[in-house]
Amino acid sequence: MRTHTVDHPLAAALLTTMRDARTDNSAFRTALRDLTRILIYEALRGAPVRHFEIATPVALAEGSRLAQPPLLVPVLRAGLGMVDVAAELIPDARIGFVGIARDEDSHQPVPYMESLPDDLAGLPVYVLDPMLATGGSMRHTLELLVARGATDITAVCVVAAPEGVAALADSGHPVRLITAAIDAGLNENAYIVPGLGDAGDRQFGPR
Ligand code: PRP
Ligand code: URA
Repeated sequence: MRTHTVDHPLAAALLTTMRDARTDNSAFRTALRDLTRILIYEALRGAPVRHFEIATPVALAEGSRLAQPPLLVPVLRAGLGMVDVAAELIPDARIGFVGIARDEDSHQPVPYMESLPDDLAGLPVYVLDPMLATGGSMRHTLELLVARGATDITAVCVVAAPEGVAALADSGHPVRLITAAIDAGLNENAYIVPGLGDAGDRQFGPR
């Protein structure tokens, strides 16, 4: 599996704000939006473009736009904080939704909703979820997408654990990972260490 860890001082500063336990919900949401902008920018590097002719005020010139805007799939709740800025950057993108809550005791994903196009053949899909911990939630999402014919999937995550990266690689699904950090590992509660805590709670408050 291809993994790209974004190495940029602005990304590192935004991630620092998100990691800091003193950062309140509002500032956390703002930092997540700003960091998502960088992650999406990196995810789109090298994406196929379509060229067409435009006229500047001075002369004809070659313009370009994305050949195929991806489907954006935020994983609720925490991925919600990434989708608006991704859609601002890619205005032609369609948006699907997956809802998954991890069971606090078993750490297994508990899916509670999905709203996706039936046919994803030939369509790039960007899954948006700040946290890749055990990888269970992302693997479930990949299964939903692959069952609909997706063959080109990008997982866009703020922080990943090596366990989650391995789970994606072992899944055999057609996925690459764009992230701002691969942390040391998971603690006994399957939280990423050092991580940033519960990304849903830090945006929206405790459930
Ligand atoms: C978090 C996070 C991922 C998942 C990662 O969601 O946003 O979806 O945990 O853990 P995993 O890799 O071990 O599956 P959570 O289940 O806490 O739900 P929330 O987004 O509603 O807070
Ligand atoms: N989900 C989170 O929000 N944070 C973690 O560290 C692990 C799972």
